[in-house]
Amino acid sequence: MLVRILGSAAGGGFPQWNCNCPGCQSVREGKNTVHQRTQSSLAVRGTEGSWYLINASPDVRLQLERLRDTKPTSIRSSPIAGVLLTDAEIDHTAGLMILRESAEPLAIYGTNSVREALTDGFSILRVLKDYCGVIWSSIEPGSKVDLNSNNNSDDSSSLEIEVFSLKSKPPKYMRSDSPVDENYAGSVVGFTYRDSYSGGVVTYAPALSEFSDSILKRLDKSDCILVDGTFWQNNELLELGTSTRTSLAMGHLPLSGDNGSLNHLAKLSSKRKIFTHINNTNPILIDNSPERKIVEAAGIEVADDGLTIEL
Ligand code: MLT
Ligand code: MN
Ligand code: ZN
Repeated sequence: MLVRILGSAAGGGFPQWNCNCPGCQSVREGKNTVHQRTQSSLAVRGTEGSWYLINASPDVRLQLERLRDTKPTSIRSSPIAGVLLTDAEIDHTAGLMILRESAEPLAIYGTNSVREALTDGFSILRVLKDYCGVIWSSIEPGSKVDLNSNNNSDDSSSLEIEVFSLKSKPPKYMRSDSPVDENYAGSVVGFTYRDSYSGGVVTYAPALSEFSDSILKRLDKSDCILVDGTFWQNNELLELGTSTRTSLAMGHLPLSGDNGSLNHLAKLSSKRKIFTHINNTNPILIDNSPERKIVEAAGIEVADDGLTIEL
């Protein structure tokens, strides 16, 4: 299978349009310790079969341009067979609007909770209905995605995708005054990709708020893991004065600290461990920063746009 990181930054990208944090400023100044990154997205394909887009970022137009690897045979064709969503966050779904030019109904896979958010909150599914149309396939945590469930494609992919549940965190726009998290079961999921030809296993979780035993086991059994690298510390945005929300309140376990994701990842036996969905304020984006050195010393990689994993 091939897994390609299309966008390694969290929502906002790097630099973010209105941010003057040290990292964003360094990019603008052209420092050689940093470079631009687009917003969180991934593409995956089996040894046999088409590319699937995992999350549709606002940068999807440029990202899909970089994915084209075959000569077109007709005037219109899509480089992807479908879009799978881990959640309904704006940075993972706004790109669906850009895909409206599709000549065929878009094949989108997501949980019922995500569908509800994209219908009643950020109503992009209602809008798309009047453009390309959508063939929605509901996916269930704890089960496998049926990539042939939409009659649009007869893709004989060697890819198996398993859905697993992560702690519920509805998007900000779906939160009521008294959030009852059980109402949002399935609002955030992760995926495990398994190629039936090569046997390779990759697990992807861009919004990880805790390392439960079952998640640790799943990650440990994967050849490669791509996980939430959003914030270095819990009060990162508060210290910079850019938000009142902590990393944990946003559903992201920070990297540092005794219970931080770095310590959990260091104990796992996966061959490749990679942080992705990295916020522009996270100092690991700066080459040679003390924080980057700590991550690398732990045998963990920092994802970059275009990084391709073959397994
Ligand atoms: C997240 O990753 O938590 C969200 O994308 C943050 C947001 O845009 O509100
Ligand atoms: Mn995000
Ligand atoms: Zn910034």
